[in-house]
Amino acid sequence: MRKFLFRGLLVLVVLTVVGAGVGAWVLLRPPIDTVGDVAFDRALAVPPLAESRLDQDGRRVFDLRARAGQADLGQGGATETWGYNGDHLGPTLRAKRGEQVVVNITNELGEDTTVHWHGMHLPAKMDGGPHQPIRPGTTFAPHWKVDQPAATLWYHPHPHERTEKQVYRGLAGMFLIDDPATDVASLPHEYGVDDVPVMVQDKAFDDDGQLSENGRFGSEIGILGDSVLVNGTPGPYLDVTTSLVRLRLLNAATARFFNFQLSDGRPFTLIGSDGGLLDRPHQVQRVPLSPGERAEVLVAMRPGERVVLRSGPQAPDGDFATRRFQGGGDKFDVLELRAAATLKPSPAVPAKLVDIPRLNPSTAADAREMTFSTRDINGRKMDHRRVDAVVTKDTTEVWTVVNGHGTPHSFHIHDVQFQVLRRTDGQPVPPLLSGWKDTVHLPAHEGYTVIMRFSGFADPATPYMFHCHVLRHEDEGMMGQFVVVEPGGQPQLAAHHDHGG
Ligand code: C2O
Ligand code: CU
Ligand code: CU
Repeated sequence: MRKFLFRGLLVLVVLTVVGAGVGAWVLLRPPIDTVGDVAFDRALAVPPLAESRLDQDGRRVFDLRARAGQADLGQGGATETWGYNGDHLGPTLRAKRGEQVVVNITNELGEDTTVHWHGMHLPAKMDGGPHQPIRPGTTFAPHWKVDQPAATLWYHPHPHERTEKQVYRGLAGMFLIDDPATDVASLPHEYGVDDVPVMVQDKAFDDDGQLSENGRFGSEIGILGDSVLVNGTPGPYLDVTTSLVRLRLLNAATARFFNFQLSDGRPFTLIGSDGGLLDRPHQVQRVPLSPGERAEVLVAMRPGERVVLRSGPQAPDGDFATRRFQGGGDKFDVLELRAAATLKPSPAVPAKLVDIPRLNPSTAADAREMTFSTRDINGRKMDHRRVDAVVTKDTTEVWTVVNGHGTPHSFHIHDVQFQVLRRTDGQPVPPLLSGWKDTVHLPAHEGYTVIMRFSGFADPATPYMFHCHVLRHEDEGMMGQFVVVEPGGQPQLAAHHDHGG
């Protein structure tokens, strides 16, 4: 009897000690902090500009092949990766406003994929969402006319329930739009020299140097890594040869919220957001980007100096769980900028950049509310047979998009760029949200009222998506569908739609 009691007591003591140990490890484990620990010993890779040709109809034709490969991600050997036209990531597509483009996408992966043109205004059938699967060994050739302001867009897979893994393995690239009506001469614009794509992603590696898809213990948002790559380069530096360098920042991570700043706290000039240039430049000290968001910034450099682009703790910083488990407290050294001993002078930044016609809420045809909570939007998960919003072509709508709880989320919508009207708690809207946007961070228990115009394309049979751009959330159903119809039209989704996956 006494022996049993003793054993029971012993087990209890051991369990308590182990439990307390695990609890303490979870609670006291410091956030990730790589500041000062990154070697910056590799030149930043600049994705090549994708080759293109004009077909007999004058359309600009690109080819993309999605395939598996191997890349050196700083793990002392080869890491299995995926890429477009190469081992890892994809080339930069570039086209002018007004051009017709065609992209032949060949799927050489062993599973379905899609390619979505994030930020692009285009017909729903060309959008590359989960309704346009590309089967292994087949080619899909979406085509459309580029018709929107100069912008830094991007492309990535969007297959049913597989988006996080495919992007994480390396399927992502930039799509730059040039607008002949925009004065670029006064901004740095030499690709890879003073106008540089900066695609930032965090990766977790296992002991064999392979990409780990587990991420951090306790994460509610999917894979969080402790290494940050820029354009796939670990520990990168960029040689700067001009007095101003333009960085096209893209948060291409699947889950992590970055908060970019410079190591000495110096201000830099914010000139663009998701959908194009801002109406004027803004001096800022931080640019927080949630997954999928972009910002264009100009950094002024002095001859011979070095300054590091960092990511500081997430802003707004969120609750305890966000700081501890969703990476909100983590800090990273991202990219070292190394100025040459003599710098070619860049033109002064113009006081005015572009005209942004403001959309007028009093003309809105409809107002909707979308609350993002758990993995649902308005209490529902993605259902490819259900249309969540029917929008009339060539009308303007006001949507209030809100985070209903404490986990970080974002709002992203296909086809359109929106303007932010106000924050739900009345706090001022920062300069980053003063121009065209397609993705916005929804802080805990807060959100934004946004306005957008659904011009040009109606298709009652093919929905566009809106969703949280934390890709695991998207895969788990935090996504809805909208259909754009002609006035008086009704959606008519294909009855037995095969959505792949
Ligand atoms: Cu960048 Cu629906 O995605
Ligand atoms: Cu998108
Ligand atoms: Cu989310």
